[in-house]
Amino acid sequence: MFRSSCWGAVLLFVAAVPIAEGKIDRKPIVRQFNLHLNESHVYSPIQVGNGDFAFGVDVTGLQTFVPHNTLSSWGWHNSSLPTTPGQTSPEDFTGLDWWTHDRLINYAQPNPAQKDISQWMIANPHKINLGRIGLSFGGLNVSEDDLQEKSQTLDLWNGLVTSSFQYKGKRVEVETVACHDSDTVAVRIKSDLVRAGQLGVFFDYPYASGKNKFDAPFVGVWNQTNSHQTELKQSSHAATIVHTLDATRYLTEIEWEGAAEIREPKDGSHRYTFKGDGHADTLSFTVTFAPEPVKKAGGFHTIKAGSESWWNGYWNSGAFVSLPSGTNSSAKELQRRIILSQYLLAVNGAGRDPAQESGLVNNGWYGKFHMEMVFWHLAHWTLWNKWNLYDRSIGVYERFLPTSIERARDQGCDGARIGKMSDPTGRSAPGQINSVLIWQQPHPMYFAEMEYRSFPTQATLKKWDNVLSSAADFMVSYAWYNETTKVYDLGPPMYPVSENTNPNETINPTFELAYWRFGLDVAEKWKQRQNQSIPSKWVTVRENLASFPVENDVYVLYEGVKDMWTTPELSEDHPGLLGIYGWLPPDSQLNLTIFNQTVDKVYQSWNFTYSYGWDFPLLAMTAARMGDAETAVNWLLDENNQFDEVGMPVGGTRVPTPYFPASAGLMLAVGMMAGGWDGLEGPIFPEDWDVKVENFATAM
Ligand SMILES: *[C@@H]1O[C@H](CO)[C@@H](O)[C@H](O)[C@H]1NC(C)=O
Ligand SMILES: *[C@@H]1O[C@H](CO)[C@@H](O)[C@H](O)[C@H]1NC(C)=O
Ligand SMILES: *[C@@H]1O[C@H](CO)[C@@H](O)[C@H](O)[C@H]1NC(C)=O
Ligand SMILES: *[C@@H]1O[C@H](CO)[C@@H](O)[C@H](O)[C@H]1NC(C)=O
Ligand SMILES: *[C@@H]1O[C@H](CO)[C@@H](O)[C@H](O)[C@H]1NC(C)=O
Ligand SMILES: *[C@@H]1O[C@H](CO)[C@@H](O)[C@H](O)[C@H]1NC(C)=O
Ligand SMILES: *[C@@H]1O[C@H](CO)[C@@H](O)[C@H](O)[C@H]1NC(C)=O
Ligand SMILES: *[C@@H]1O[C@H](CO)[C@@H](O)[C@H](O)[C@H]1NC(C)=O
Ligand SMILES: *[C@@H]1O[C@H](CO)[C@@H](O)[C@H](O)[C@H]1NC(C)=O
Ligand SMILES: *[C@@H]1O[C@H](CO)[C@@H](O)[C@H](O)[C@H]1NC(C)=O
Ligand SMILES: *[C@@H]1O[C@H](CO)[C@@H](O)[C@H](O)[C@H]1NC(C)=O
Repeated sequence: MFRSSCWGAVLLFVAAVPIAEGKIDRKPIVRQFNLHLNESHVYSPIQVGNGDFAFGVDVTGLQTFVPHNTLSSWGWHNSSLPTTPGQTSPEDFTGLDWWTHDRLINYAQPNPAQKDISQWMIANPHKINLGRIGLSFGGLNVSEDDLQEKSQTLDLWNGLVTSSFQYKGKRVEVETVACHDSDTVAVRIKSDLVRAGQLGVFFDYPYASGKNKFDAPFVGVWNQTNSHQTELKQSSHAATIVHTLDATRYLTEIEWEGAAEIREPKDGSHRYTFKGDGHADTLSFTVTFAPEPVKKAGGFHTIKAGSESWWNGYWNSGAFVSLPSGTNSSAKELQRRIILSQYLLAVNGAGRDPAQESGLVNNGWYGKFHMEMVFWHLAHWTLWNKWNLYDRSIGVYERFLPTSIERARDQGCDGARIGKMSDPTGRSAPGQINSVLIWQQPHPMYFAEMEYRSFPTQATLKKWDNVLSSAADFMVSYAWYNETTKVYDLGPPMYPVSENTNPNETINPTFELAYWRFGLDVAEKWKQRQNQSIPSKWVTVRENLASFPVENDVYVLYEGVKDMWTTPELSEDHPGLLGIYGWLPPDSQLNLTIFNQTVDKVYQSWNFTYSYGWDFPLLAMTAARMGDAETAVNWLLDENNQFDEVGMPVGGTRVPTPYFPASAGLMLAVGMMAGGWDGLEGPIFPEDWDVKVENFATAM
């Protein structure tokens, strides 16, 4: 038997899919779910944005009363490094050694003897709120209650927010829109109050905190005005505000039409005011946030027209599903979630980095993104044929390859070990779970295969070859050949998807075994397709992985787990073991009789009150794959899986709102039900539903 484990006593350093002409009349279906609001929502702003930049607004169409956030892919900040002797730089961080198959392996885990630098590396860099833009009522302290006839609409089809209200008997209209290809928000305010000089705009800037894992609903610190600086530079019909927070520096480029002026704060704050010269009733301006000077964004109308055409193209391209909204309330709610999720994922989940769980609404995990969650954030685009959005960040695997290779090498392994909680440089934050989790590792195989199914070209093969080989090499050297059982084991130490076991006892979890086999299988096909030889150790490990752990004729979480069904902590959280049939296609080792009994057992025993996020899409994909569309729909609409009035997936008791893996997971499950999978021609929805689908890719 080939001995390939990196944990071995002997270390081995072995080395566009065409867019079909739409038959469904999409526009009225999308517009049916336009948002109509008459008050601000503190937790869930309405947003405009482009995937890399989003601007959350209150009922005024700006951030007048509620300091909703302005977040981007590029806005990050480091707090000052600790001054504790021996802990003054990330290079001082030592991590911890854990026994791993008779060897001590160093993992990037917080070291109790190095609390300060460990915490610094977890919390830095953190994402910053770029600034606040609100209406200013000529210096008066006006509150939302002082406005009448408030009315706001988000027109999903055009990506436009229109807000209006009465103040002191005068009507105010505000249009807000984001640019599709620069981090610009364009605004048009129309009111007699503008002409009267009683209505203008303010710009304000917070400091960054870095203290809270979750900064929700608001990001930034508004009362440390001395810790950061702003500076105004004026020019003709334009101004630049330079904001400096320690080493972070970026620009706000403001451009306007007509005569207006911007004034610096005199009170030591960072609140700038901006108003027209009293000759016009309209104030139109654009605000671009950028790390470097950028070319002019164009005026309000240019940006509005560009946004409109981008959003029209978005809705008209890729897949679409029409459910019987008029006749069935479940279908209507599902259609609402689908449409609003499509809007929100284009705004929050389609940037140059994979999304953080809260997108660009607020900060979770300091604004960092998780490599295991890349699957949930991006997989749906592949079924919905929205490849341009998927392409924006899928290069993360290639980009992070150097740090992934270094991580594997430092642990004595081959290949590339994909990290976990990441910043844009590819550094994975210290963490016990972060350092030994493994289910992120086969994701590139899933993506590569989905891509190849739609684009079976040399270019696709080439694009992924390096990443897949490196990922597979790690998977093979991670697997440990057990001389007693004569199989390859996964772990310990490791955490399974549910992150709820003792890592030192966790061995051969059901889901990870299936995913390892799936990943190696794709890696082998990749070599075959290129007429290259398949490394024999890949085949050996894949063919000799440990069997799925079975107890009393049901699959269990991991091999040897004690009392899983009666221990509350083990029969809650992500039911990963159901992912082997639904999320994943069936593999050679799957026994459907046992699987069926496992599903029944989970249904009977699981604490679904504790479930959240992508658990429900996972359950839905399993139910759908078993042929039960009614149950699949029920999971998607489960009482513990709520989407609020503006379509944000509610976090529940465990995470703040929004938790976008629930939206992206919903899109994945619906995409699978609409497009079917190998062996089943879709769609599969409740029998009495009149469903129309078009242009879906088929799932594996
Ligand atoms: C605001 O909207 C809510 C929900 O749509 C509605 O119940 C309420 O009557 C509206 N209030 C006003 C003042 O229009
Ligand atoms: C934060 O510091 C790290 C070095 O530890 C550096 O790689 C990164 O670029 C810095 N980020 C920012 C936004 O200053
Ligand atoms: C796992 O084992 C390591 C020693 O290899 C030990 O330091 C650590 O505390 C153990 N972790 C848990 C959660 O028991
Ligand atoms: C503005 O008015 C609100 C109540 O409407 C009050 O809570 C707040 O303190 C006032 N702010 C200032 C600066 O006067
Ligand atoms: C600053 O504001 C925060 C709340 O955002 C508050 O907890 C803190 O006490 C304030 N600090 C000062 C110095 O006012
Ligand atoms: C809607 O469809 C679901 C799934 O088929 C069904 O269970 C439910 O009874 C239907 N509701 C109505 C009001 O028809
Ligand atoms: C070999 O496998 C058995 C059964 O899973 C397990 O108890 C044992 O710990 C494994 N041996 C090693 C060295 O990991
Ligand atoms: C692999 O070989 C087959 C059969 O000889 C050939 O058709 C195919 O083009 C080759 N593929 C590549 C990537 O060279
Ligand atoms: C599947 O498992 C059942 C129950 O253990 C067993 O009776 C059956 O033979 C298995 N089927 C296959 C194909 O192994
Ligand atoms: C398992 O199979 C039985 C018998 O065919 C069926 O009644 C049951 O619904 C199945 N369970 C699931 C979860 O599909
Ligand atoms: C199920 O989860 C909920 C939510 O976390 C918790 O309050 C409840 O105690 C759990 N129930 C059991 C039986 O563990």
